[in-house]
Amino acid sequence: MGPSRVATSTELQRFLDATRPQIDEVLARWGERAASELGGRVGEAVAYSLAGPGKRFRPALVMATYRELGGMGDVTELAAAVEVVHTYSLVHDDLPCMDDDDLRRGRPTTHVQFDVATATEAGFRMVPLAARVLAAGATRLRLTKDATSQVGGLLFRGAGAAGMVGGQLLDLENEGKPASIEQLTEIHTRKTGALISACVQIGSTAAGADAARMAAVLNYAQEIGMAFQISDDVLDATASSTQLGKTAGKDERQNKATFATVLGLEAAAGEAERCVQNAIAQLGRGGVDSVLLEEMAQFIINRRH
Ligand code: IPE
Ligand code: IPE
Ligand code: MG
Ligand code: MG
Ligand code: MG
Repeated sequence: MGPSRVATSTELQRFLDATRPQIDEVLARWGERAASELGGRVGEAVAYSLAGPGKRFRPALVMATYRELGGMGDVTELAAAVEVVHTYSLVHDDLPCMDDDDLRRGRPTTHVQFDVATATEAGFRMVPLAARVLAAGATRLRLTKDATSQVGGLLFRGAGAAGMVGGQLLDLENEGKPASIEQLTEIHTRKTGALISACVQIGSTAAGADAARMAAVLNYAQEIGMAFQISDDVLDATASSTQLGKTAGKDERQNKATFATVLGLEAAAGEAERCVQNAIAQLGRGGVDSVLLEEMAQFIINRRH
């Protein structure tokens, strides 16, 4: 590791330290708004879910892409819209009819803290909330109507049946069944990759990047999306619940086929590493020279939770 590597991880740390409180502030503001508008336990459950201390990787990725592709405005609120969608997906992912988990981001899951009906409704309420956060973020950036409708389409297509929701459904249907690497690739690409791809598409669209650089960051995101879920699967099998802030060993207990169970832990980690190297190569190939985006890719496989 040469001196440039040391300097780059400092850059990533500085970036994450600077962006996280900004994202948290926007999420807290929208959480309070939802709580007062919706009232009652559902409103409280939305605010509770948004306040959970997630890594905020997705909004940070929107912000990094925007900045690295020349964006000069405050993209925080637009970025936070993705985190609202991600958080809703976790609330529903944890429900008894899905992964049936009681720990999330180091706290009781939303249906444990409240109840199943409240958590289910809170999840659904976060979908239109995300659209409002996105619209406010676009206004703050003074995006054109065209760009605003593009970023809206990107977020909700990524979250929808062809992307995240469809992937979650496939994931459920495959539970307890053996899966091939091709099937797992499709599930991972949709349930996790689609939203991560939307992050870079939103960031590059908001920045007004040219088509070549937009394509480069999309190719990059498709690789890191796979790396992200493979690394989640490896961590599930190797880390502790305390370290993860969610229940460890869940995939095995639910008899879920993952890269870790199909390939073995070492080969799965190797595959994630290969995706990260491909992602970095895609940036170079598309003329995107960004130490920050390279470091964000590395972060996915170096993370401890
Ligand atoms: C967990 O995502 C769910 C997956 C799609 C793998 P994260 O690992 O980003 O979870 P938080 O947001 O930090 O809690
Ligand atoms: C969830 O994958 C992907 C989502 C779209 C929420 P997992 O079920 O593996 O996520 P965790 O491990 O519960 O965070
Ligand atoms: Mg799941
Ligand atoms: Mg889960
Ligand atoms: Mg998991």
